Amino acid sequence: MTRIGIILGSTRPNRNSESVGRWVLEHTAGHDASFEIIDLREHALPFFDEPLPPMAGQYQNPHTRAWAELISSFDGFVVVTPEYNHAPSAVLKNALDYLYAEWNNKAVGFVSYGMLGGVRATEQLRLVAGELQMADVRAQVALSMVSDFENFSEFRPAARHEGDLQALLGQVVSWSRALAPLRQAGPVAATV
Ligand SMILES: Cc1cc2nc3c(=O)[nH]c(=O)nc-3n(C[C@H](O)[C@H](O)[C@H](O)COP(=O)(O)O)c2cc1C
Repeated sequence: MTRIGIILGSTRPNRNSESVGRWVLEHTAGHDASFEIIDLREHALPFFDEPLPPMAGQYQNPHTRAWAELISSFDGFVVVTPEYNHAPSAVLKNALDYLYAEWNNKAVGFVSYGMLGGVRATEQLRLVAGELQMADVRAQVALSMVSDFENFSEFRPAARHEGDLQALLGQVVSWSRALAPLRQAGPVAATV
């Protein structure tokens, strides 16, 4: 069974990422994959503290090894990202920076939220995904803090987003499957 992780990109108290992530999870029925929320609160990582770059694949810290073991168990991801200062949150970028091979040849789709739908965070994450040798799908969900949340905190998504979400989930699942032979072939060599 193809396994897709839904990464919550915020850990702050009162975060909106949790309700958005739950909404994603609630709309996964009908897709031939299993889905699981990956909560960065439960996998708390200090700011990157490995002596070697992740491309070396020699993780020393127990928290890095635990994170690597978790991420390697998934075939693809949906990243739920807030927009902080026109960028992804530091906690999300840090979690991505920690690993390398565990992200390679896996599909990723982005669900963002912000005053303008969080699209600036997603554009930056697409650059990061490229460097991590992930396949980012075109379909994306961009939720407005103004019209998809009441009082900027109660999540009430417009119905039209469900179509975008279904397209995203379909692409993430099919690309995750299609990339399985490459993952089985082993780690991807990183060049300059
Ligand atoms: C540090 C910080 C920076 C923010 N910067 C932006 C921004 O650049 N653009 C935007 O649309 N919203 C911005 N916001 C508002 C967030 O979109 C909103 O607070 C959202 O709920 C944050 O996600 P979270 O609740 O899951 O943490 C910012 C919020 C914080 C806390």
